Amino acid sequence: MSEQVLDNAQQLAPGEARCPNEPSTQDIIAKDRVTAPDWVRSESYRFLGDEDIPKGRYIDPEYAKKEYEKLWTRTWQFACREEHIPEVGDYYVYDLGRRSFIVTRVAENEVKAYYNSCLHRGTKLRPSGTEGCASEFTCPFHGWTWNLDGSLQKATCHWDFPHVEAEKFNLPEARVELLAGFVFINMDHDALPLEEYFGPEFMSHINSWGLENRYIHCHVAKRIPANWKLNMEAFMEAYHVIETHPQVAVSNADANSQYDFYGDHVDRFISPLGVISPHLRGQYTEQDILDQFTVGDSSVLAGADRKLAEGETARQRMADMLRDMFEKGTKADLSGVSDSELLDCFSYTIFPNTFMFPGISLPMVYRFRPDPEDHRKSFYEVFFMRPVPKDGERPEPAECVWLEDHQSFTEAEGMDPGFGNILDQDTENLLAQQQGLEATAKDGLTLGNYQEIRVRHFEQTIDKYMAD
Ligand code: FES
Ligand SMILES: [Fe+2]
Repeated sequence: MSEQVLDNAQQLAPGEARCPNEPSTQDIIAKDRVTAPDWVRSESYRFLGDEDIPKGRYIDPEYAKKEYEKLWTRTWQFACREEHIPEVGDYYVYDLGRRSFIVTRVAENEVKAYYNSCLHRGTKLRPSGTEGCASEFTCPFHGWTWNLDGSLQKATCHWDFPHVEAEKFNLPEARVELLAGFVFINMDHDALPLEEYFGPEFMSHINSWGLENRYIHCHVAKRIPANWKLNMEAFMEAYHVIETHPQVAVSNADANSQYDFYGDHVDRFISPLGVISPHLRGQYTEQDILDQFTVGDSSVLAGADRKLAEGETARQRMADMLRDMFEKGTKADLSGVSDSELLDCFSYTIFPNTFMFPGISLPMVYRFRPDPEDHRKSFYEVFFMRPVPKDGERPEPAECVWLEDHQSFTEAEGMDPGFGNILDQDTENLLAQQQGLEATAKDGLTLGNYQEIRVRHFEQTIDKYMAD
């Protein structure tokens, strides 16, 4: 750390320091030609303390056991998309730990989530990882059958079960709420409604994104050799970009990205693209930045004119190129869509285990789940969510492709190779981090006050659930 940085940090209250002598994310966005909406132009950061995060939560199997009792049973989780179950009778099996749910559309506007277990002797009614269409749910063991609405239709040889009252044998349900095309479920019948859980600020953000008009065009999953929280936290900051992804730093304002949080359950960063990393300031021209810029499906930009005019910025040219490209792709008028929405990386954590990226160039959702067999492993899923074409039918959602542990993300069909490489870089650090936390003589993890606020915010919310 340079002396200048130390001086700067020392003169300010904790959490107030920002990357010195650099434009802020808001400064960068304010210069764009097409103005960004309010949800982009707001800031919501506060210093939350600088204590170390105790390491036990990542390495102790007892901690993981408690999470199943106290956290996973009481939080709203993204179980599937509505597009997975468009017709009455369609169902999708969602698992969390050893819990399993059949999420099914029981009427045009009603979705239910049943515990995936027979009320006779417990057999799973539908295998994990499956989806399909059903008019009833029949147990494969003795044939007890439930109607789509969860009521008991048949107990085989019911003469032998005079003690079974049909009205007490409805399939037990988790709560369900629908938002922006996502089906959320919660095992806690006393939990806050989803809107209150997220709070008014985030609700105004998500309601302006139109994610209900997106479809899954690629869905990739992989088991990662690290605790689910380490897995998530690897994606919460742009602080690692210069070391882990040096190839993108030329066109990513990494150290001057913006971090925000909203209530207990939502936080985000905005990481501007098309501008140079403060770490590399002075080493590249605007033309270099443009030449090295890749984003999402970068191949489609290959033929574009990339020669900058005198005084033109790489960022503005990139925004114009992307706008043009997406207008052609979607046949929509994007003249009013801001440069920032077209270009920048907006990463939101939706507590406990989902990320949403509402931007247009990287339209993704991530989901993370613990591996019930091993607290040192977790499942990571990436959904690429393209806008539904204006003049056509909604395409079917892509089926999930599971990668083997040794496979690269670049091998997944539909994955842009440049982006797959970034995901490999992110996840390759995780085994070393898990093992290092088990090897260390130190009690906890030390965090930056600003750039790692999402990690602290996330862990403080976990603390709240674990303490109750
Ligand atoms: S266990 Fe399901 S019918 Fe017997
Ligand atoms: Fe990364």
